[in-house]
Amino acid sequence: MSIRTWLEGAVVVAPMTKGSNLPYRRLCVEFGARVLVSEMVVARRLKQKRRSEFALIRRAPDEPVFGVQLAGTDPEEMAWAAALAEARGADFVDVNLGCPIDHFTRKGMGAALARQPKRVGRIVAAMAAAVSRAPITVKVRLGWNDRDRNVLDASTAARRPCSSTGARATRATVRPPTGTPSARWPRPCPSPWSATATCCGRTRWTRRGGGPAVPA
Ligand SMILES: Cc1cc2nc3c(=O)[nH]c(=O)nc-3n(C[C@H](O)[C@H](O)[C@H](O)COP(=O)(O)O)c2cc1C
Repeated sequence: MSIRTWLEGAVVVAPMTKGSNLPYRRLCVEFGARVLVSEMVVARRLKQKRRSEFALIRRAPDEPVFGVQLAGTDPEEMAWAAALAEARGADFVDVNLGCPIDHFTRKGMGAALARQPKRVGRIVAAMAAAVSRAPITVKVRLGWNDRDRNVLDASTAARRPCSSTGARATRATVRPPTGTPSARWPRPCPSPWSATATCCGRTRWTRRGGGPAVPA
């Protein structure tokens, strides 16, 4: 089944560090969620065989569609981790290009990685080559800050190596990062959805914006 079919009308549970753990995801399935994503998993920690990180890629038997979100900066490491996640049951593997937390951006991960489109391209290409069936997706922010809206550069860089390997998707986080020392967004983004639409129109991928499950 393609990622487009998975996403059609589905309630998607976003990746949430310390949030979207296995028991929580099982509850979400009971309440109707169909596509679920792990907490952020650092590829290097998997390489280091940390048991706590391996727990994050565990799939519950009742999860209809399960994705593992990876963070990292090294194409080989990310490719190895993507293959591992797939072998352990992930239906798709997502790359974190949005985490604004200093601890990770200082190491070049998350929102900082999105500022290096060439590296993004190398990482996605390596991951796509390492998996046999799982689509690679990326989760991007509108940008690093108000002056540096790099969503289009980052998502285009991720899309390019995948054009020969079938259906892929991107999800744009439409909320600006707030309250963190790096990736600071000084004021509310005036029109987040238009930026997402631009991304979609220019790159022609499946895309998914964030938003509340219940309309306000
Ligand atoms: C506690 C918490 C942890 C999060 N952890 C991650 C994460 O590990 N990876 C990620 O890509 N986004 C993470 N996010 C961002 C969410 O996936 C999502 O993009 C954000 O909450 C906005 O979604 P919404 O617009 O649908 O409400 C986190 C959000 C929260 C509240």
